[in-house]
Amino acid sequence: MRTALVQNDPAWGQVTENIDQIFGLMSKEKASLYILPEMCYTGYQMRSKDELEQLADSVESENIQRFFRWSKENDAAVILGFPERAADGRIYNSSIFIMPDGAFNIYRKSHLFYKEKLFFEPGNTGFRVIEWRGLKIGQAICFDWYFSESFKTLALMGADLIAHSCNLVMLHCQRVDFARAIENRVFIATVNRIGDEERDGEKLHYTGQSVCVDPLGNYLIDAPKTETGCFAAEIDPALSRDKNLNKYNNLFQDRREIFYKNIH
Ligand code: ACM
Repeated sequence: MRTALVQNDPAWGQVTENIDQIFGLMSKEKASLYILPEMCYTGYQMRSKDELEQLADSVESENIQRFFRWSKENDAAVILGFPERAADGRIYNSSIFIMPDGAFNIYRKSHLFYKEKLFFEPGNTGFRVIEWRGLKIGQAICFDWYFSESFKTLALMGADLIAHSCNLVMLHCQRVDFARAIENRVFIATVNRIGDEERDGEKLHYTGQSVCVDPLGNYLIDAPKTETGCFAAEIDPALSRDKNLNKYNNLFQDRREIFYKNIH
């Protein structure tokens, strides 16, 4: 499946313009699946819960419905990060997987990072894998990568591709993906924004360099650190479904769960 990683540069709070910029970037590559960063059209740093309340969107909101319409018109799926206002009013840092027929899946970030802990509810969906047009796709959001159990869980659930929407401010994720892809034999698409964001004197620098790594550790995409763009690669599920390392070793069958710490 031809998959595009959309690396953008949102201006804080300029929601309509940011979505326009995203659609402009998406129009540069024809793909079946488009993956966008975390909080991709709002900006990331909140100063208060009130600010987050202003920017949070429900699935029915016009901002999110624009992506539903785009998906239908272009017959392509879109996975994007946004601040989600749930039906009960709680606000989550979420990723929505929108399919052209209007079906969708919401994943709510399991591992909140830094000041997100002040404003967001911790995710309550857990991980899930959705099969769409022959590809099994799992969603994750940014800091989830720091907990290797996240990607392992998605791999054990059968994911071929982990759609990892990010606003990365720490180094290393793009290189750690090499190990995560190999140890799970999955494709990983880490999709990151670029630019600086200064709010109340605190400046965050987003590291760009969106990557797509295949199950053997090859970097199919290694995008620039400071430029926006839309970068596409072919995802072949036959590669991620072969968990045999050789005649004697199978990545999943060889696991010794009795020796692993039982976390439940
Ligand atoms: C992050 O989780 N946005 C670093």
